[in-house]
Amino acid sequence: MAEVALTGVGKVYPDGTRAVTDLNLTIADGEFLVLVGPSGCGKTTALRMVAGLEDISEGTVTIADREVNRVPARDRDVAMVFQSYALYPHLSVRDNIGFGLSLRRIPKAEIREKVDKAAQTLGLTEHLSRKPRNLSGGQRQRVAMGRAIVREPQAFLMDEPLSNLDAKLRVQMRAEIARIQRDLGVTTVYVTHDQTEAMTLGDRVAVMKKGHLQQVAAPQELYDRPANLFVAGFIGSPAMNLLQGRLTGDAEDPRIEVGGQTLAVPGRVLRERPALAAYLGRDLVVGIRPEDMEDSELAAAGAGGGASLTSTADLVEAMGSDVLVHFAVEAAQVVTEDTKELARDAGTDVLGHLEAPRTDLVARFSPRTRVKVGDPVTIQVDTGRLHFFDIETGASIWESAAGSPREDEV
Ligand SMILES: Nc1ncnc2c1ncn2[C@@H]1O[C@H](COP(=O)(O)OP(=O)(O)O)[C@@H](O)[C@H]1O
Ligand SMILES: [Mg+2]
Repeated sequence: MAEVALTGVGKVYPDGTRAVTDLNLTIADGEFLVLVGPSGCGKTTALRMVAGLEDISEGTVTIADREVNRVPARDRDVAMVFQSYALYPHLSVRDNIGFGLSLRRIPKAEIREKVDKAAQTLGLTEHLSRKPRNLSGGQRQRVAMGRAIVREPQAFLMDEPLSNLDAKLRVQMRAEIARIQRDLGVTTVYVTHDQTEAMTLGDRVAVMKKGHLQQVAAPQELYDRPANLFVAGFIGSPAMNLLQGRLTGDAEDPRIEVGGQTLAVPGRVLRERPALAAYLGRDLVVGIRPEDMEDSELAAAGAGGGASLTSTADLVEAMGSDVLVHFAVEAAQVVTEDTKELARDAGTDVLGHLEAPRTDLVARFSPRTRVKVGDPVTIQVDTGRLHFFDIETGASIWESAAGSPREDEV
């Protein structure tokens, strides 16, 4: 077990492509860190530099306080688990798991013992004599994990290990991996583009965009206090609604104007975010999580203090546990470099409504709502939980002038 540290790490591929820039990240001994971001943001590159499978162009990587920049992969004492688990089809599960150990001429009895122990951890004991073709996808993934476990490495490096599994199995294996990592206590760096996987697995989650680290924090912290528009829009499903608004009123009685509607905001919001005072009378980006909205017919009487939006239900999706209601307000869409990147990742068109200002929102209502498509709807907004971002920089507006949370709070 060991601490893994990246300091000022950068990667420029021989063809000139810059994949990673000034990456600073310390993964504590035994920690489960998830590196998440859209496809192409440099996650695999970063992981492969730690593994020794890719040259490090800039900065240093240390494993257990030893700089490994020039240490070949096989001597770094890390085990990598990939998306494609490449098992040997002609070998049994036992031999697949023990393969790396046999190569290193470890005594047979010792290999046997290690493989038995790993198989027990992974629930593969009854399958040890089977061939990979007779295993389910989840079992094959477990065999690949077994190969990593028996090596007793200083760190596990996993690159989207579950992306070949179907959705249900993925959830199951997610829980398995979390349990195994906890049991073994091995420092783990886990790469995924799936924010749900990141949030459920990581002790901490590091969000990357275009080769740059955006924020690293515990999952709830990332959700509650995203550092910028990109993190705000990337973490959470359905995503945080982002719309252009104007902060009006005064410090005692602040209001948010969005598309001709006014939302009263509790005065404590400005006390919690002192930097917000400088935005009075100015435009900013307002973020509303879907769960911070409710059908006003269901909201407790008097709750919200007059903070509601009116619109028409464009789409109503019953999810069972809740109902997603899509509606629009006449507020300008937020178009920044961050939201364009988010739209690209989601495969949606950010410039959908150029003629009139209009922003589509999604609210998560209680299943007791009776709202139907086409109905007028009044949406109660919990304005004490709004998020605010600078319209130019995209930075979250908190206490400092720069608008981002202080280092010591992360
Ligand atoms: N061998 C390579 N040569 C040149 N560019 C590469 C190479 N491998 C990856 N890239 C580029 O580096 C960027 C980051 O890629 P990658 O690390 O695979 O991202 P991710 O794993 O987050 O999807 C992408 O723009 C990708 O096209
Ligand atoms: Mg990748």
